[in-house]
Amino acid sequence: MNTLTAHNLKTPNSQNLSREIEQLIPGGVNSPFRSYHEVGGHAIFIDRGSGSKVFDADDNEYIDYVGAWGPAILGHSYAPVVEAVKRVINDGPMFGAPHKLELELARKLVAGIPSVEMVRFVNSGTEAVMSALRLARGYTGRDTIVMFEGGYHGHSDSVLASSTHKHSSGIPDQFCQNTVLTPFNDLPALEKCLSDNKGKIAAVIIEPVAGSMGVIAEDPGFLSGVRELTKKHHVLLIFDEVLTGFRVAFGGAQGLYDVEPDLTCFGKALGGGMPIGAYGGKKTIMQKLMPLGDVYQAGTFSGNPVTMAGANAILDSLSQPGVYETLEALGAKLFDGLRKSIDKINQKDGKSIPVQLQRVGSMFAIIFAPHPIRNFEDSKSIDNELFASFFHKILANGIMLPPSAVDAACLSLAHTEEDIKRTVDLCSSAFTSLFG
Ligand SMILES: Cc1ncc(COP(=O)(O)O)c(C=O)c1O
Repeated sequence: MNTLTAHNLKTPNSQNLSREIEQLIPGGVNSPFRSYHEVGGHAIFIDRGSGSKVFDADDNEYIDYVGAWGPAILGHSYAPVVEAVKRVINDGPMFGAPHKLELELARKLVAGIPSVEMVRFVNSGTEAVMSALRLARGYTGRDTIVMFEGGYHGHSDSVLASSTHKHSSGIPDQFCQNTVLTPFNDLPALEKCLSDNKGKIAAVIIEPVAGSMGVIAEDPGFLSGVRELTKKHHVLLIFDEVLTGFRVAFGGAQGLYDVEPDLTCFGKALGGGMPIGAYGGKKTIMQKLMPLGDVYQAGTFSGNPVTMAGANAILDSLSQPGVYETLEALGAKLFDGLRKSIDKINQKDGKSIPVQLQRVGSMFAIIFAPHPIRNFEDSKSIDNELFASFFHKILANGIMLPPSAVDAACLSLAHTEEDIKRTVDLCSSAFTSLFG
């Protein structure tokens, strides 16, 4: 564990808050990703955000690429969402009855995602995945699910357990028998897995861009191959677009790569900062849900008007022309700059520094590994210590990345050319001090 702390960053308030919260909340965090366990040091407490910036409890300013781990696609404190939420809260935040904002959001989602004819709104990505898996099992009458090694689908038992890996204790062995793992970007392995488990598999679930092992895009044709194989073997295909949905394109990764799944899970960017999840697909499948069918899923807070108001506002903004072109241009500019600085160091000494740049649209990762990462096996070569040093060097200068060597960093439409230039300059200095 690297315990390096930033030199010229003064965070006494965050340190004091950390010490106290760690006595009251395990690890001081309500979601382990947020702790600085992997990179060393104490987590920074964020007080407020505005556009591309966040401000900590000591009033230090950072250009933020955590993006709330995905939701902040239009930047922090985005006025249309804030205003929409305020209006709805004034009328009473929730009633436990249908509300017109649910209809409005369902209309927009169904219009924007051709594979989705019906949708259910829930409160998190985890809930969306857990519910979609139950629906797939109920619809097919089969128990086994297939997922990809190194994939992250939230914290429900089925997707944390498998016959080869158990990522958490506390999961009954029966769950492990019902989840089978196969490598990402490997169609022959998937074909074998589907043949070996003939008649048992309800669904294959996949992140169409793997976001938790280094931002891995498909090898060309992989996703359409997954679609063909799942059709051939009569199993459902679930796209987990909790991170990619409304982020890599309005139509998600399925739009970007032109592959139509049977069910899709959403979350994060869809809520624009409100706690949301959603899952949807063909009517014939969705009508298996209670009260129409026999698959149970429910939730006191599901589809609550406050979340719906935020999500409607964000989709209205995201559907404007040019949004995704601008995000792509920002990503390209950032990566062009980083590439140039890496090339410069390499040319100077005739070496090849172990830095890989992996990006799909506004999702990106700066990976410390000798070769590009295509699957979970490759991700084992990532050097966490180097990442930790890099992370703290740029944090000390006001650039905030997720405190993880593998998780996706996120650009937002609020990032400016000036932010990108400053980020490139500071990353270049960090590369030089690590390798130059
Ligand atoms: C692809 C994917 N699926 C599911 C989840 C779980 O979503 P949530 O944290 O909202 O429960 C995440 C969260 O990081 C994710 O990235």
